[in-house]
Amino acid sequence: MTVTETWTVGRLLTWTTEYLQKNGSQSARLDAEVLLSHALECQRIELYTTFDTEPSDEGKTAFREMVRRRAEGTPVAYLVGYKEFYAETFEVNPDVLIPRPETEHLVVEALDRAKELVATRQQAEASSDEQLNICDVGTGSGIIAITLATQFSECNVLAIDKSAAALELAELNATKIELPHEQIQFLQSDLLSECQPGQKFDLIVSNPPYISEAEYRELNKSVREFEPELALVSGPDGNELLVELMQQAVNFLAPDGFLMVEASPMLFDRLSDWQPPGLVCEKITKDLAGLGRVGTFRLA
Ligand SMILES: C[S@@+](CC[C@H](N)C(=O)[O-])C[C@H]1O[C@@H](n2cnc3c(N)ncnc32)[C@H](O)[C@@H]1O
Repeated sequence: MTVTETWTVGRLLTWTTEYLQKNGSQSARLDAEVLLSHALECQRIELYTTFDTEPSDEGKTAFREMVRRRAEGTPVAYLVGYKEFYAETFEVNPDVLIPRPETEHLVVEALDRAKELVATRQQAEASSDEQLNICDVGTGSGIIAITLATQFSECNVLAIDKSAAALELAELNATKIELPHEQIQFLQSDLLSECQPGQKFDLIVSNPPYISEAEYRELNKSVREFEPELALVSGPDGNELLVELMQQAVNFLAPDGFLMVEASPMLFDRLSDWQPPGLVCEKITKDLAGLGRVGTFRLA
């Protein structure tokens, strides 16, 4: 007589971890836990309190389907439909880049600058209580624009993207997080080209596409085949959109404003070779690996 082993939560996790590892996942155990808790509609921690129980057939079927797609390379965030960033959970889909932890450095720097700007202006004109105007170029799922607006209420944010589908998701995320409509606006535009002439921003922030065509060809399959090329590739050198944004920003920055961009450490290493005139680099902030990740620029 053969005894069929029960597919308990514990056994499902062990089997799936091994299977995803063999299929190239570098975070197989975490993937298995996130997918199983999503399929069973529970918190990850609950998997450990139900370790020896067998999930429903419905839960196991939903899990099996997601594991199959994960093994083919689909990122976990697209399978479950969300990703955590800073203090919120954002909806994501294949129209937008999956938020990366490095981008939190840009948000932290931008929040510091925003507070500094307000304090300096208040000192200068005792009664200044105007909202700061911030523009997020290439907003994608809206993580930067929405996080700045939720963490710093004294600002209005214009969130720009070239992709209508990305803007639709960013708007949905802003609605879910219940941001007041007047605090965040959305604009479909090629960088700043659709902004009103004469419009001035105190901060222009951006995590633009900064990968070169050659780097793109070398990317991990799960990024290259699943995330939007428009969100990743800039052109032959990787800095094309950054250069264009810096040139445009000169006309849209307030006199004491800042342009803050995320880019690759390689691009910051050779910044003096490609930085267009009109702006001065004030600071390069390093990421947790000690590599240049966020550049802060002001008008020359
Ligand atoms: C690297 S993703 C960043 C998305 C999001 N801000 C984040 O940090 O996760 C770059 C975004 O820029 C948008 N984009 C690409 N080219 C653009 C352009 N010329 N003008 C405006 N947005 C652009 C893409 O659609 C994408 O949403």
